Amino acid sequence: MGPAGDMHSSAMITLRGAYSEVSKGKPCREARAHRTALRVGIASIIRRFPTHFHHFRSVNPLLSKLQPYPFEKLRHLFGRVTPNAKFSAISLGIGEPKHPTPLFIQQALADNLSGLATYPTTAGTDQVRRAICRWLERRYQLPTLNPATDALPVNGSREALFALAQVVIDPAAKAVVVCPNPFYQIYEGAAFLAGAEPFFVNSDPARNFAPDFSSVPADVWPRVQLLYICTPGNPTGAVLTLDDWRALFALSDKYGFVIAADECYSEIYFGDHPPLGAMQAANQLGRGYQRLVAFSSLSKRSNVPGMRSGFVAGDADILKQFLLYRTYHGSAMSPSVQAASIAAWNDEDHVEKNREKYIRKFKQVTPLLAEVLDVALPDAGFYLWAKVDKLINISDAEYAKQLYAEYHVTVLPGSYVAREAHGWNPGASRIRMALVAEVDECLEAAQRIVEFTRKLAA
Ligand SMILES: Cc1ncc(COP(=O)(O)O)c(C=O)c1O
Repeated sequence: MGPAGDMHSSAMITLRGAYSEVSKGKPCREARAHRTALRVGIASIIRRFPTHFHHFRSVNPLLSKLQPYPFEKLRHLFGRVTPNAKFSAISLGIGEPKHPTPLFIQQALADNLSGLATYPTTAGTDQVRRAICRWLERRYQLPTLNPATDALPVNGSREALFALAQVVIDPAAKAVVVCPNPFYQIYEGAAFLAGAEPFFVNSDPARNFAPDFSSVPADVWPRVQLLYICTPGNPTGAVLTLDDWRALFALSDKYGFVIAADECYSEIYFGDHPPLGAMQAANQLGRGYQRLVAFSSLSKRSNVPGMRSGFVAGDADILKQFLLYRTYHGSAMSPSVQAASIAAWNDEDHVEKNREKYIRKFKQVTPLLAEVLDVALPDAGFYLWAKVDKLINISDAEYAKQLYAEYHVTVLPGSYVAREAHGWNPGASRIRMALVAEVDECLEAAQRIVEFTRKLAA
């Protein structure tokens, strides 16, 4: 530590001394109040002069690279805005499923509460892994998978998407993680905390929002260790085609990076055919699952976001390392949740009913919004990814703010789920609308959006 560090450490010792000094001889409650006041004071000094005090903090410096989550940015945007009291609040902002959880899943959970009395194994039971493998085989017409090696239950796909980066990244090698743009923010945070740098590949509106991987410079590919792809995409709803997969597998085979395929929206789709899956594409191309890990979840499929249940499947060698990591991380799934998950993976009836609800909703709401926004029915997912400058020249954030103020409808500015990369932000002048509420509420929101946009454009 240099002279500056010495100075700061003596300052810190002085502060610590003051901290214990302040409560000496005081009655208990008064001493506690003094200590609290002093703690708040010290914290605010450290916050005001973070560079002076960084020597005393034992936090991981990579944490400072994390951006606020989009909803925090939204809260900040709406900070001083009072929404028009004439209207009730409608939120299309958060992508949280709102259809009711099927009773048979609730019942399965309730019937298995005795599982709370035992520690689960990190790998989960044979039964849960078998249910996951059988679902994968049925859904993607895969040859028989081995439940002992080919799949693992996880506590929702979010934690697993994050954790995988910690397993496959070697930070010593100036690692790069390729992320689609716009994207699910976990990919970026996972890359940073694994000691890698994200490289954003913009989705191309002219190609149904497929990320244009040919835009990655030749000198970047050799440093790529992990590539996240979201199909169906959040927020675009775009589904990768077999040709997209062929190109991606060729790149992975050439440069040796791992593909993390986030497929948590796979069961909500609007066409006649279910979205192509990553393992399905690998199988159709006769390739095997090397360096491929697929992530799925019950949250959206079965309306159980609070149950925290999903899986990873694919490359058995990677899953073996992943299991090792998870054993230390302590991310075993509760036995009660495992039992309810088996019931959910084994049933498709509720998934079809859920999908029909989304189809009805999207088919009514999309044409209405298309009168004033540049928007179309997506391939899949539960978002509309709309351009707001069809009739007016306005930024996404300003549009969201005025809509909230005048009509009490919350939408997410597109630039909050994307980054400026290669000279532009693919989320700029777009908004993301999650059609998760019941149809009447979504229709009411759409009508308000039409009225608002028309008024702005007049
Ligand atoms: C693209 C994407 N991936 C993963 C997740 C995580 O979902 P869960 O952890 O509930 O499986 C979400 C949640 O909104 C998401 O939008």
